[in-house]
Amino acid sequence: MGTERTLSIVKPDGVRNGVVGEVIRRFEGAGISIAAIRMIHLAKKEAEGFYAVHRGRPFFASLTDFMSSGPIVVMVLEGDDVIARNRKIMGATDPAKADKGTIRADFAGSIEQNIVHGSDAPETAATEIRYFFSELEIVS
Ligand code: CMP
Repeated sequence: MGTERTLSIVKPDGVRNGVVGEVIRRFEGAGISIAAIRMIHLAKKEAEGFYAVHRGRPFFASLTDFMSSGPIVVMVLEGDDVIARNRKIMGATDPAKADKGTIRADFAGSIEQNIVHGSDAPETAATEIRYFFSELEIVS
């Protein structure tokens, strides 16, 4: 395991609902470090590029409309086993199935508008981090 990096996104619903600080508080409270952070308002094409693996899924158009509907906060999180730990803190994709006390159980409105994104594996983490940050923008 050891120290890992993962990409975290507070989605447009999280920014609109004012839970950016609460999401960050939960990461920091779990001993996870923020190695990079920025706000960005994705163009539709940029949201499609980020979610390219989901192209062809029935929710792709709606998901990329949503992800380009307002600013997001993109972060690189760093820590021991942080990919899995972040996913635990976020809870299941569908908030109805997310464990009590997770970010999605507490704040998400639907399976699509689910407040946060987190990379699901080391390879996707590397690709997703590279989509938003250069190595020079990431502190260690
Ligand atoms: P995320 O973890 O960012 O990964 C892909 C996203 O697609 C997911 O969170 C949701 O926002 C969205 N998503 C996944 N499954 C569905 C679904 N069945 N219906 C609508 N949106 C979905």
